[in-house]
Amino acid sequence: MTRLLITGVSGLLGINLALEAVQQGFDVVGWTNSRTLKNVPFQQETVRLEDLESLPAALQSARPDAVIHCAAIANLDVAEQNPQLTDLVNAQAPGVLAQVAKSKGIPFVQISTDAVFDGSRGNYSEEDLPNPQNTYAQSKLGGEEAVRLAYPEALIARVVFYGWSLGGKRSLAEFFFNNLSHGIRVKGFTDSIFSPLYVTDLADLLLEALAKNLTGTYHIFSRESLSKYDFGVALAKRFGFDENLITPVQTDQGNLLTKRSLNLSANPKKLQLALGHDLPGAFEGIDRLFDDYQKGLRQQLAVFLA
Ligand SMILES: NC(=O)c1ccc[n+]([C@@H]2O[C@H](COP(=O)([O-])OP(=O)(O)OC[C@H]3O[C@@H](n4cnc5c(N)ncnc54)[C@H](OP(=O)(O)O)[C@@H]3O)[C@@H](O)[C@H]2O)c1
Repeated sequence: MTRLLITGVSGLLGINLALEAVQQGFDVVGWTNSRTLKNVPFQQETVRLEDLESLPAALQSARPDAVIHCAAIANLDVAEQNPQLTDLVNAQAPGVLAQVAKSKGIPFVQISTDAVFDGSRGNYSEEDLPNPQNTYAQSKLGGEEAVRLAYPEALIARVVFYGWSLGGKRSLAEFFFNNLSHGIRVKGFTDSIFSPLYVTDLADLLLEALAKNLTGTYHIFSRESLSKYDFGVALAKRFGFDENLITPVQTDQGNLLTKRSLNLSANPKKLQLALGHDLPGAFEGIDRLFDDYQKGLRQQLAVFLA
């Protein structure tokens, strides 16, 4: 049985990836930071990434056969307000972990982001030059560079995703769900374009990429790109909410604290070729988000935090 270390297991990606990996037969050990999970079907440890000196021993004692490094300061405004901590956690810690993974000869997957691009053009491939626009994006690019330097055979997965999280507020899907289900009006950005995967689709692709021993940089995105407004409308239609509650606006009318890249549509052809099959779409992912809602996943996740 493969023992898989998932860092950031209390996060949106981490928890959904861990549940999927357990279901696929992995022996999962998860790292958390500020939150402790209850009654989860895997082992968990608290490890603070900013404590760089503690990381080699923590990784050794987890005894993994592979690592998927999901943990990060992923809130853009928190990153903007804490640049030094963000650099430690998002840029330096991945390099330390990758170095230990290399010395142990085990695969290492660094989760990165579409936000490394400036969003001026869209349809980004692995060949395009990053140009980060805020502290978070800069730190994630720093993490990529540190991992490449420490462990050139690591897999760097640039991603963007939505799904159900432990706290119920982490993803764009939850933003639309929480407001529209209560009849609350929201803004939907028409000029903010992305290529998001449903988090379980992303989890499956990450585990498949690991099984195929992919190395280097890969774009792991949905085969379709859409605006955040169109995403909200599609979600409203699937859940039976009133789509007219979503006002189409430009991002600069959103009063956001941190500058964001606009057109982050991405091109995942390299991954499609490597895996030999089509990638999931963003719209069919919304169907799976709905199916998992009906199966009670939202409540199940909340219980892990209770
Ligand atoms: N959400 C997206 O659409 C998106 C898009 C592109 C890339 N990403 C990347 O995907 C990964 C997962 O994102 P997410 O949305 O799942 O994030 P999230 O829900 O905010 O979870 C972040 C995770 O990182 C842990 N963490 C935060 N600070 C830490 C620290 N100082 N030491 C140790 N662990 C720490 C958190 O632990 P606690 O909760 O226990 O504090 C949590 O488990 C990140 O690398 C992010 O950059 C996300």
